[in-house]
Amino acid sequence: MIKEQIEKTIIQTYMEKFPVSKELHKKLINYIPGGATRSLSYFKPYPLHIDYAKGAYVYTHEGHKLLDVTNAYGAIVHGHGDDDIVKAVQKGIVKGSQYSSPSDGQYKLAKLLCERVPGFDRIRFLNSGTEATMFALRTARAYTGKNKILKMSGGFHGTHDCVAASTKKNIITAGIPQGMTQDMLEVPFNDFNQLEKTVKENADQLAAVIMEPFLGAGGVVLPESGYLEHVRKITQDYNVLLIFDEIFSFRVDLGGCQKLFNVIPDLTTVGKVIGGGLPIGVFGGKKEIMNIYCHENTDKPLYHSGTFNGYETVMQAGFAALSKYDENKIAYINKLGNKFQKGLLKSFKTNNLNIQSNQIGSLLNLHFVNKPITTPEQVLESVDKLHTLMHLSLLNKGVFNIPRGLFILSTAITEQEINFLVNKIDETLKELLPLIKEKYNYLMAS
Ligand SMILES: Cc1ncc(COP(=O)(O)O)c(C=O)c1O
Repeated sequence: MIKEQIEKTIIQTYMEKFPVSKELHKKLINYIPGGATRSLSYFKPYPLHIDYAKGAYVYTHEGHKLLDVTNAYGAIVHGHGDDDIVKAVQKGIVKGSQYSSPSDGQYKLAKLLCERVPGFDRIRFLNSGTEATMFALRTARAYTGKNKILKMSGGFHGTHDCVAASTKKNIITAGIPQGMTQDMLEVPFNDFNQLEKTVKENADQLAAVIMEPFLGAGGVVLPESGYLEHVRKITQDYNVLLIFDEIFSFRVDLGGCQKLFNVIPDLTTVGKVIGGGLPIGVFGGKKEIMNIYCHENTDKPLYHSGTFNGYETVMQAGFAALSKYDENKIAYINKLGNKFQKGLLKSFKTNNLNIQSNQIGSLLNLHFVNKPITTPEQVLESVDKLHTLMHLSLLNKGVFNIPRGLFILSTAITEQEINFLVNKIDETLKELLPLIKEKYNYLMAS
């Protein structure tokens, strides 16, 4: 009964507040199935349509200003329409957006990345994170002559066939040929023994282990002490390559998580922030491995091409974004993340709630689970209904957020805005409390 009341009020408020989105959605579904060209953008009763964005805010067609804590799922780190990035894009476009030849922008961004990321001796550009992990796997297979790949359950590496199967609880694997995944092995993140056992048993055929240093899309689950070092040692012992997918995690440190944890993989993928909010992907690693693409090293280099690879305007935007994402900015945004975490934990306590918030730097995931989260299985226990209602309720309160409780900050956000964010989440939790007490009482602290 309480559930129905709360749900009804939240949905009704959303529909009253965002009527133009409904109209636009109705028009769009005539051309795009579901009215969203990205599965994650869809939610019920209908997705929010944004008119424009600037700095820390997005603005809806109804004229509402919402604090953006989605930041394009992590692709934007300096807020929207950052002056330096806009200038770089404008300057780049005027000079011709793409030449299909090596360019100054490629040199500048490649040099910066290789100087910063310990695992990068050589890199190659492509257009998305999905492409980056696809090529990292192909590189590992080509270099080692082995076929199998081991990934972590709960890990996310994009949408290409090899990695798309069985990464999430709701994943639909129809359309992925069985043969695609027969060479994929999976162990739970943070499970020391299973990793060691599986690598040992498959070493002859295992080309690589691919993993995020912490589960990003999978709930911001951090590695247990010594886990990354363990994976590094086991892969080295059994002559298996280690790939860090840092597409999400890169932003936590100047050289990504590998620098933060001082564990250096053989191959690395990055994307998102390094394109300054424009589409990009990068894979790279040790010189001797990446040389399989080098025309000056072999008569038959591995083929890697793409119409938009190294797109000059993206390179200039990425260089502008990354140049100013320096130690000071990273310290600032990570401090914001810590303040956010502190505020949330206080709110949980004052509301007598035993729920979780996993945070590293500017990334935070709230979980409706009553024990600290260290495994991907625990993430799946979080209550979908509460996430759905919290998401809509926060939109109603002026916070543009990701439905599953993931919050991503930008350097355009101030401490005052973190206070606002914490207050709005606190208000939402208070709104949901009667429902939690009625249906999910195990989430209340005793
Ligand atoms: C760790 C990780 N790898 C790969 C991807 C896929 O990147 P893209 O969406 O650019 O294809 C993502 C996207 O969220 C990601 O977080």
